Amino acid sequence: MRTDDTVQAYSLEGAVLVTPRKTLKKALRISGRKIEALGKPNPAHFSFKDSYVFPALINVHDHLRGDYLPKVGPPPGTFYVRCHDWEKDLRAAKLVAVERAKISEKDCYLLGAYKNLFAGAATVNDHFLHSVNDQYIPFLPIRVVSRYTLHHEPTSYSLPWGEGIEIEHQRARNLDLPFIIHMEEGMDAEYQRGLDLVEELDCLDDHNVHVHCVGYSDLDIAKTKKAGAHVVWCPNSNIFMYNLTCKIRKILAAGINVSLGTDSTATGSLNLLEELRFARRTYRKLYGEEISARLLTDMVTENAAAALRVSRDIGSLEEGKLADAVVLARKDDDPYESLVKTNIEDIELLVLEGDPIFGRKEHEEIFALRGQKYATVKLRGREMLVKGDPAGLMRRVREAVGFKKVLDFIPLDL
Ligand SMILES: [Fe+2]
Repeated sequence: MRTDDTVQAYSLEGAVLVTPRKTLKKALRISGRKIEALGKPNPAHFSFKDSYVFPALINVHDHLRGDYLPKVGPPPGTFYVRCHDWEKDLRAAKLVAVERAKISEKDCYLLGAYKNLFAGAATVNDHFLHSVNDQYIPFLPIRVVSRYTLHHEPTSYSLPWGEGIEIEHQRARNLDLPFIIHMEEGMDAEYQRGLDLVEELDCLDDHNVHVHCVGYSDLDIAKTKKAGAHVVWCPNSNIFMYNLTCKIRKILAAGINVSLGTDSTATGSLNLLEELRFARRTYRKLYGEEISARLLTDMVTENAAAALRVSRDIGSLEEGKLADAVVLARKDDDPYESLVKTNIEDIELLVLEGDPIFGRKEHEEIFALRGQKYATVKLRGREMLVKGDPAGLMRRVREAVGFKKVLDFIPLDL
C-alpha cells in the first residue's frame, strides 16, 4: 500500500509561485501529499518556463449530476422570477427526462468532475444529497467535498435535501462544517424572505454559505455581514435565468467573504475559468468599473477555502498545506490578470495532494515518478495526460444516447 513515506518527493521550479501575499521565484517542494517548503528545488525537480503556479482552483458551487448541455432556461424573451419555475422546466425537458436519463448516474458525476478538472479546479462542492453523491465521490478524479451540511432553499418549494434547516445547521455547528443553501434565488415575496426565515430559526452564523442571493435587500447584506456568513456569486447562472444578479458591489463593499461558483452547466458557465471572465464582464456592465483580478483570484482560491472551512488544508500555497497546485502558462505580467485570461489549453499541470491529475505530455515524468495511472488524450490539438479515462467516458455517453454527443466542457478531440 502506498504511504506518504513511499511516495517520491519532487519540486516544481522555474515558475513564479503566487502565494497569498506575494509572488515568489522559488521552487514548490512537494513531499507526500503536502507542500514541504517554498525554497530550493529537491533532487527530483521539474522545470517550467514562463509560467505561474497557483493553488489549484476551488469551485464552491456546482451540481455535478446536472452538468450537461445544452442549457435549460426560460422561454425566449422571458426570464424566471423564482428558481422553482426553472425546476419545473428542467424536469419537463426531454433533454433531461429522455436523453440524459440514458446515461448512468455515475457517468453523469464523472462528466461533472472532468468539467472541473479540465479547468484547473481540483476541489468542488456538489450541492446535492449525501445519499446520492457519497457513493460516487471515491471514483471521481478530483476532490469533491464530502464534509458539508445542506438545504435546498428556504421556501415552500424547497426540494427535500437534508433533514431540514435547523437539524442541518446544528450539525454544521457541532462538526464545524459549512451549511450550504441556495438563498433568495428569486424575486417574489416568499423568496425574498429567505434570509429572515433562516434568521428566525436561529440558523444564521458563519457556517452559512449562501448561494446566489439575487433577492437580497441592503438589510439582508448587513445581516449576512454581521453573522459572518459567506456568499457564493454565480453571475452566469443568475443572468441566464433572471437577467440580473445579486448586488455584488454592495456585498463586496460590506466586507462579506465572496467566492465564485459555476452552478451546473444547465444554467451556468462551461467551467470556472469562463466564470471568472463572465464575472469580470458582468461587473463592468453593471457598474461601469473594473473588479480587480486579484479579488477574482481570491474568489476561486482563499475565499472559497474559507467558505468551505478548509483553509487549514487548501486555498493557498503555503508550507504544510496539501499540495494542490495548478501551473499555468503566463498570459500577462500581472499573475492575477494572467489567471483571468487563462483558457483550458494554458494549463500546464494540475496537482492534487501531490499527484498530477492533468498535464501536458512533456510532464509525463512527474506522473511516472508518483506512480500515477493516466491516459493520454488529445485536447484542442495538444497531447495531454489525465487521471482516469475521460475518452472512455465520452464513448459510453455516446453509446448511451445513440449519437455523437458533444459536451463543450469536455474539450477532447474525439
Ligand atoms: Fe445551484
